[in-house]
Amino acid sequence: MPAAADATAERIREVNTAYHDLAAASYDSKWGIDFGDTGREQVVAKLSKALGGELGTWGHALEIGAGTGYFSLNLMAAGHIAELTATDIAPGMLEALRANADSLDLDVDTVVTDAENLPFPDESFDLVLGHAVLHHIPNLNAAAAEFFRVLKPGGTLVFCGEPSANGDRIAALPKRAAVAMAPLWRRAVGAGARDDHGGSDPDYGHAMEAEVDVHAFDPGAIRDLLGDAGFADVHIRGEELLANLYGWMLRTVESTADPDEVPRRWRLFAFHSYLALQRVDTSLLEPHLPPQIFYNLVLSATKPA
Ligand SMILES: C[S@@+](CC[C@H](N)C(=O)[O-])C[C@H]1O[C@@H](n2cnc3c(N)ncnc32)[C@H](O)[C@@H]1O
Repeated sequence: MPAAADATAERIREVNTAYHDLAAASYDSKWGIDFGDTGREQVVAKLSKALGGELGTWGHALEIGAGTGYFSLNLMAAGHIAELTATDIAPGMLEALRANADSLDLDVDTVVTDAENLPFPDESFDLVLGHAVLHHIPNLNAAAAEFFRVLKPGGTLVFCGEPSANGDRIAALPKRAAVAMAPLWRRAVGAGARDDHGGSDPDYGHAMEAEVDVHAFDPGAIRDLLGDAGFADVHIRGEELLANLYGWMLRTVESTADPDEVPRRWRLFAFHSYLALQRVDTSLLEPHLPPQIFYNLVLSATKPA
């Protein structure tokens, strides 16, 4: 759900920084972020969908809104990126990213910066990429101009995990259903209710997201945005439908329980059933249905040589 129409760009950046700094410590567990084989397979599949074909290997990559490193650290570990500069507006997220990079034995540079003012010279990078970040950026035209400026001619732009306008609307349904089902689910798995804000108001997280999320995208608007910035070969595809409906239900019911009382066997079941639905989306739905009906959009473009 987009932020209030009267929120200033400065306010949106401030809330994004504070919210993501606060979220950093528990971010990987909340979102089931994996830095092993599963995580690598997920990001390689996303990159391949975004590019619409063969994957390359890139020299110097710049990640925008890198968070704890889900996208670029996994791509680096999978051998698709040789050198990485990871950026984010929230210093806490980059601290978590550095810890993840250390545990993977990967060498990365981190720079705290807003996407609209990148502190890098023109034509510095072979690849500019991001995951689940464009929808937080107040002035997308300014950001797209920066991505274009810092890319080398012939360089590649890739963004994945951006909410589609339709997906944003349909996510509200499983969240509402999950709030109603939560007491029954807690009894079934034997977990007590959480006694902090998350338990008394299961929609609390959603309310915070409403402050940090600024856009939900229509494929046509993304094409215009990138075309206006000078990009060519724009490719957009939809990603995740069933998996996302299910994922929002899981996260919403889990947010109402005391995290220490959610059994491990439930967590394993939830994770593997989510991955199974992701496979159904990838193999059966995504290749045949129009991008706008999916929850997320993935996209790529090139800076003309
Ligand atoms: C939903 S998180 C995604 C993090 C990571 N890319 C991932 O997929 O796990 C969005 C990230 O974008 C960052 N962000 C928000 N607004 C930004 C801005 N204007 N410029 C740069 N980063 C921003 C947040 O701090 C946060 O780390």
